[in-house]
Amino acid sequence: MYYYFNVKSLLPYPPLDAFVFQFIYVRAHVFCMGEDTMTIETSLVQIEDLKKEYTLGETTVYALRGVSFEIMDGEFLAILGQSGSGKTTLLNMISALDIPTSGRVIIAGTDVSKMTRDERTNFRRKSTGLVFQFYNLFPTLTALENVEIGIALDIKDKHQMRKRALHYLELVGILDKADNYPSQMSGGEQQRVAIARGLAKESPILVLDEPTGNLDAETSDAIWALLKELNTKTGTTIIAVTHQTSVSKVADRSVFLRSGKVYGISESGEEE
Ligand SMILES: Nc1ncnc2c1ncn2[C@@H]1O[C@H](COP(=O)(O)OP(=O)(O)OP(=O)(O)O)[C@@H](O)[C@H]1O
Ligand SMILES: [Mg+2]
Repeated sequence: MYYYFNVKSLLPYPPLDAFVFQFIYVRAHVFCMGEDTMTIETSLVQIEDLKKEYTLGETTVYALRGVSFEIMDGEFLAILGQSGSGKTTLLNMISALDIPTSGRVIIAGTDVSKMTRDERTNFRRKSTGLVFQFYNLFPTLTALENVEIGIALDIKDKHQMRKRALHYLELVGILDKADNYPSQMSGGEQQRVAIARGLAKESPILVLDEPTGNLDAETSDAIWALLKELNTKTGTTIIAVTHQTSVSKVADRSVFLRSGKVYGISESGEEE
């Protein structure tokens, strides 16, 4: 039996206070054994009738055409769909990188679609680790420095910062390339640096856009297993866009997009 409770209704506080409260105090998932098993699941992200239009000259592209669903705290959610179906557009809204044309994205009780750009940047810094579709590595920084720069604002101690960056480079199997620049690495290696950078933030939410698009099947499976382990062990909410339908087996739920609309949501392992 599930009980959802809405942090917003409990907390008429400023956005970041509510956010911190959510992760420090309300995070508890209560499990009671036996027949009366009870799980308290908190709804972390509410996506309400989200629409996004891009206007190019005379043409309007309807990238999202009324998307609504909810993401639970601690959930591993996959977003699948064909190229151009609106996956990246949706992730950009969920990670507060962009605002919708209409509709709302509420994260931990806060409507991020109403925030100013600076507020969104600050909110994202505290809440979300990002792994982009095209890596976004700095060409003039080494792999290690690229990971470090992602956590430099949060970890002042340089030794600690280096230690954590090296740990995550090792975790994604790329420690031997720590001193290489992006131009001295393969696409798959650069992708793993980007994943290490996203993980190193150790933020409550991790958002990934095609994190394994350039990896071989074996490495790709290892990365998804790693993400699942992270999700299970630390309760990090993972929201990942992928073309790999097999990820549905690892994810708690999968949302399927088609032409900017949700056409199905499946539980772990179900075929759409
Ligand atoms: N900045 C933009 N300006 C104009 N059109 C855009 C812009 N960004 C995305 N689009 C359009 O919106 C639609 C959805 O794009 P989106 O990038 O979300 O697709 P996607 O599902 O992530 O595709 P892929 O799997 O190829 O990455 C596409 O038709 C795309 O051309
Ligand atoms: Mg995309």
